[in-house]
Amino acid sequence: MKKLVISTGAGISAESGIKTFRDADGLWENYPVMEVASHTGFLRNPELIHKFYNERRAQLVNAKPNAAHYGLVELEKYFDVQVITQNVDDLHERAGSSKVLHLHGELMKMQSLKNENHVYTLDRDHLETSTATRDQYGDPVRPFIVFFEEAVPNFTPAMKLVQEADIFVVIGTSLVVYPAASLINCVRPGKPIFYIDPNPARVDLDNVTVIKKPATEGVKELIETLKTMQ
Ligand code: APR
Repeated sequence: MKKLVISTGAGISAESGIKTFRDADGLWENYPVMEVASHTGFLRNPELIHKFYNERRAQLVNAKPNAAHYGLVELEKYFDVQVITQNVDDLHERAGSSKVLHLHGELMKMQSLKNENHVYTLDRDHLETSTATRDQYGDPVRPFIVFFEEAVPNFTPAMKLVQEADIFVVIGTSLVVYPAASLINCVRPGKPIFYIDPNPARVDLDNVTVIKKPATEGVKELIETLKTMQ
């Protein structure tokens, strides 16, 4: 099967009721990003950051995958599909995608501050973390989120996946945050790229087909097109 690599951003979860970051009324309109999502911010006021992610977790558990998430699962019938997401929600997993690589962390997980390999999935009855939370070793924890100013550990494996892609798809991202935004430049020359976004960023690359639609409609159109390209 051909390798289909799909890079998603906040836009794919918009129709599940989860705010994007930079659209009107987006998350960064209501929160100072460097206070609630940066390494410096966490050092300065960890309790505020725990609270910020507790609120986003509470919102996430009431959200459901939408037709776009399910459309990516359907594509697994025709392609070897790898999702690479900037999103920290678990909607791709809940929709049934079998291969999901998170670049910016996972909201439903927490990580030991003493041992970065100690990562725990939060259960739906204990969604909150704080500076008082302790893991099984008695160590303090942080949200399992890649903050601004921090390295993106999964970027290298993500680059390799894009370099092997036969077809690359970008859905619902403003392509302004690096290194995630540079993945599109790792596509081998001549391989087709599709970009689904109702308000797409400018992309100066050949082989890009822009589908200027919301994800739920755009993915439906994409599936019909890709079925002719197996
Ligand atoms: N369907 C598809 N795309 C949509 C929809 C929709 N229904 N609604 C909005 N969009 C698009 C917007 O046009 C925009 O291009 O989703 C994109 C959202 O862009 P951002 O809010 O910047 O989100 P994203 O690109 O994922 O942000 C990247 O920034 O703050 C950090 O870590 C955070 O992972 C995030 C990163």
